[in-house]
Amino acid sequence: MKHAKILGTGSYLPANRVSNDDLAQKVDTSDEWITSRTGIKFRHIAADNEQTSDLAVAAARRALDDAGLAAEDIDLIVVATATPDMQFPATATIVQNKLGMAGCPAFDVAAVCAGFMYALTTAHAYIKSGMAQKALVIGAETFSRILDWNDRTTCVLFGDGAGAVVLGASDEPGIIGGKLQADGAHLGLLKVPAHMAGGEICGNPYVEMDGPGVFKFAVKTLAKVAEEVIAEAGIGVDEIDWIVPHQANKRIIESTAKHLGLSMDKVVLTVDEHANTSAASIPLALDTGIRRGQIQRGQTLLLEGIGGGFAWGAVLLKY
Ligand code: ACO
Repeated sequence: MKHAKILGTGSYLPANRVSNDDLAQKVDTSDEWITSRTGIKFRHIAADNEQTSDLAVAAARRALDDAGLAAEDIDLIVVATATPDMQFPATATIVQNKLGMAGCPAFDVAAVCAGFMYALTTAHAYIKSGMAQKALVIGAETFSRILDWNDRTTCVLFGDGAGAVVLGASDEPGIIGGKLQADGAHLGLLKVPAHMAGGEICGNPYVEMDGPGVFKFAVKTLAKVAEEVIAEAGIGVDEIDWIVPHQANKRIIESTAKHLGLSMDKVVLTVDEHANTSAASIPLALDTGIRRGQIQRGQTLLLEGIGGGFAWGAVLLKY
């Protein structure tokens, strides 16, 4: 078994769906401003008693069902999240326990909005090396918990949700290329500075962001890494059936597609319905694209994402 293939996908969104108009009742913003700048119309917000692990488990169960597998069939769990249930243990071990499992390795990766690219690539490496046969790879976030709901420059952009894939060893190609990159010099563009010291939380516990700075860096970086991955895989851009991008901002997505010479008809777009769900956004978009009937088995997909760190990456795969 030389390859790692997606055997199933699933996703979960909290029931509470909040529109731009709903937000405009609480902060000084408008549907027109949010839609024209970002393409976002709605976001889902977790209930107070819903943790990141609950969203992750709901998405994971759907992915397992879709793959026709039981939790016991899984021998690796990787959860990408920037909003873990607790400082420790890893949310992945909480997910493992909630799924009624024990024994297999389970750990989190922290690469914020690039988290799913990092998690998928890590699981791929485990499978390629023979260290795992069937991995549950999850992106899950309750970003609403780290937003200052009085800060209109950030609170309108994000939402909660989870997406999951089951990645399994396969004789046929699945993942055919990928690349992860990072550069910590850009810490100032995006961060949640809070940390514990002297028994107290020090620093702002909410998202701090230089919006235009993030925009410029994302546009420049995403197209470059995507081009590198496509070139290294030795395929033509015209062979890509769908881009499944991180869903932060419609204008960033349009810019990347244009740079690659691909029409927006080849892009799975969910930012209007989900807003930016950080590590959950790519698997959520992937599952949504499949459920909508856009993505078909055998098609070639380019997944790409970027987030705080900065960290970014792209994965090319045959679905
Ligand atoms: N509603 C109304 N007005 C607002 C809002 C709001 N929600 N937020 C900001 N404004 C105002 C600002 O105060 C400013 O007013 P001023 O000119 O009087 O000072 C004005 O709108 C323009 O602000 P800018 O920040 O220059 O607006 P810009 O056109 O750059 O759009 C945005 C801001 C949407 C944040 C854009 O920069 C962006 O999308 N950046 C990328 C951010 C992102 O995607 N972050 C996600 C995390 S990283 C990732 O996932 C890739």
